[in-house]
Amino acid sequence: MCGIIGIIGENSVSDDLIKSLERLEYRGYDSAGIATVYNGRMDRRRANGKLKNLISLIHNSPLKGSTGIGHTRWATHGRPTERNAHPHMNEDVSVVHNGIIENFRELRSELEKAGCIFYTETDTETIAHMISYYIRHGAGIVDAVGRALKRLKGTFALGIIFSTDEDIMIAARRGSPLAIGHGNTAMYIGSDAIALAPFTSAVTYLEEGDWAVISSKNAIIRDSNDEVVQRSVTALEVCNFQMGKGNHRHYMHKEIHEQPEVISRTLSNYIDKAELKLHPFDIGVDLSTIDRIIISGCGTSFYSSLVGRYWIERYACIPVEVDFSSELRYREPPLSPNSLALFISQSGETADTLAALRYFKAKHQTVASVVNVHTSTIARESNVVIPTLAGSEVGVASTKAFTCQLSAIACFCLMLAKSQKNVTKFNEREIISGLVDAPNLIAAMLSDERPFNNLAYELAKASNVLYLGRGINCPVALEGALKLKEVSYIHAEGYPAGELKHGPIALVDEKIPVIVLAPKDKLFNKTVSNMQEIASRGGRIVFVSDANSDEAGCELLAHLPIPKAHPCVMPLLCAVSVQLIAYHTAVIMGTDIDQPRNLAKSVTVE
Ligand code: AGP
Repeated sequence: MCGIIGIIGENSVSDDLIKSLERLEYRGYDSAGIATVYNGRMDRRRANGKLKNLISLIHNSPLKGSTGIGHTRWATHGRPTERNAHPHMNEDVSVVHNGIIENFRELRSELEKAGCIFYTETDTETIAHMISYYIRHGAGIVDAVGRALKRLKGTFALGIIFSTDEDIMIAARRGSPLAIGHGNTAMYIGSDAIALAPFTSAVTYLEEGDWAVISSKNAIIRDSNDEVVQRSVTALEVCNFQMGKGNHRHYMHKEIHEQPEVISRTLSNYIDKAELKLHPFDIGVDLSTIDRIIISGCGTSFYSSLVGRYWIERYACIPVEVDFSSELRYREPPLSPNSLALFISQSGETADTLAALRYFKAKHQTVASVVNVHTSTIARESNVVIPTLAGSEVGVASTKAFTCQLSAIACFCLMLAKSQKNVTKFNEREIISGLVDAPNLIAAMLSDERPFNNLAYELAKASNVLYLGRGINCPVALEGALKLKEVSYIHAEGYPAGELKHGPIALVDEKIPVIVLAPKDKLFNKTVSNMQEIASRGGRIVFVSDANSDEAGCELLAHLPIPKAHPCVMPLLCAVSVQLIAYHTAVIMGTDIDQPRNLAKSVTVE
C-alpha cells in the first residue's frame, strides 16, 4: 500500500524524506516522489519504479526547503507511471494520498467546469485542485482544507503543504492510518511507525476522521466535526526494521528464523510455561455466554481463521463460521446476541477486515481481534484485543505473524474452553505442553534447510504446484500455496487431500509436484491413500511428515521431515515447512522476495 511521510522543521528535509521512504519500501510500491516548498515555490521530483530512480534524480537535481512531503505509490487509479506518481500539485498546493476517493470523477468534472486543468488519471489530483479552488476563492488554508475534506467520499490519509506558507503542513485521515511524530526540531507525519522511527519515538495516532494543522513546533488536531481535540502521545514500538536483515539475505528468511523466539514470546503472554496452565485472564467479555463465533481475515490471516475453527470447535465445543473479510459483510449473516466476531490481522489496517469489523460493531456484536500492531485501527476499534508479539514483520509475505496468530488463537481457544460450562474435558496440560514445545521443535526444523534448497531446484521448473492437507492441516496447505504464489510467482493451489479425486486429480501428471502435509495423525492413512492415487498417475510427491519415508507407500520426489508433536500444534510445524519451500524456490527464481511484484504489506484499500 502507499506510504506517506511529511516533515516540517528548521533544516532541509529532502534527505530525511528519502530516508523515510526507504523504510516504507516494504509496503510495496511502483513509483515514488517528494515535494518541498521553498521561498514561496513548490517543487517536486518523481520517478517510476524503485526508489533508487528517485534518489538519482534528486542527486542530479536537489530540492531545497524545510517543509516537504514524500510518497511511495501502489497504483489504484491510474497506471504506475511518473506522471501518476505522487505528490500531485498545482502552484498553491501539493498532496500525497493513501486511499481511494470514490467520488473523484464527479468532483473532477465540477472543477474542470470551473477552469481547472488536470494532468493525470489519479483521484489524488482532484484533492489538490479542490483545496486550491477554495484558496483562490478567498478561503484561508485551514478553511480551504476543511471544506475540501467534507466534499470527499471514500478513504484517505493525506499530507498537504502550501506554497504560501512554509510553516503549515496539514494531515488528515479517514479509513487509512496516519500518525504524527513529535521531534525536537521538526514535526512529522507518517503512514506507520516504521516511517517515523528514524526521527522520533513519540507519536500520536490520528483517529478516524481527524485532521491536523501542523507547524514545526506543534500540531492542532480537529475531529470530524472540526472540534479541536487532544490525542495521546505514545511511545513508538521498537521496529524489527531497525535491526536490519542481520546475516540473512532477506527479511522473509530472517522472520522465518525469528519464529521460535516470537512464538515463545506470544505464548508467554497467555501461558505459565512452568505450571503448564493459562495465566489468569479477564478479557472484559464473559466468554461463558458465547454460543457462536465468526472468524474472519484476508489472505494468510484468513487461513489462520480456518485453523482456529478446528481448535475452537474441538476443544471449546462452540460452533464456528469462517469467511473472507471481503465477503463477510455482504452476506449479512444472521446474528445472535451471544455470538462473537473475531478478526485476524497482522497489520490491523486491512481495509476489508476493518470494514467487516465495523459492520459487526454496528450490529452491536462483541468484536475481538488478533493483531500484531497493537496501536492499529483494528486494535483500537475492537472490544477485545488478543495481541500477537511477532514484532514488526517487514517481508510482505507473512511468516512469523502467521504462526504467532496460530499461537494466540490456540490460547484464546483454551480461554473459551475454560469458560464454557459444558465443554467435554480435554487434557489442557497436554495441549499447553504441546504448544510450549513448538518453538524448540521449529528451531530444530530451521537448523537444516538443505532438503528445502534441494527441492527448490525441482519446484522452480514447475508451472503449477498442488498442496494437499487434511483436517486441521488443510488450511496450512492453502497457506503454502499462497506463499509459493506470492514470492516465486509460480501458480499453486491448495486442496483438502480428500477433494483431489473429485476433479483436481485431472491436473496430475509427471510435470506437477504435489506437496502433501501428512502428519502421522488419525487421518494419516487416508492421506497415504490419496498419495498413492497421485503416484499411480505419475504425480511427484513431496512428503511433509513426521512418519518415515517408507510409510508413504509410494515413490517420493522428496521427504521433508517434521518433528513428532501433539496433533494440535502440527499446523505450526507444517507452516514452517511450507514457508521454507516458498522461500528457497523464490531464491532460485530470483524474485523480489521481500517486496514481490504487485503486492502490498498492508492492503488499506477495498
Ligand atoms: C500474506 O503473506 C499476504 N501478505 C496477505 O495475504 C496478508 O496476509 C493479507 O493481506 C492480510 O493482511 P493482514 O494480516 O495485515 O490483515
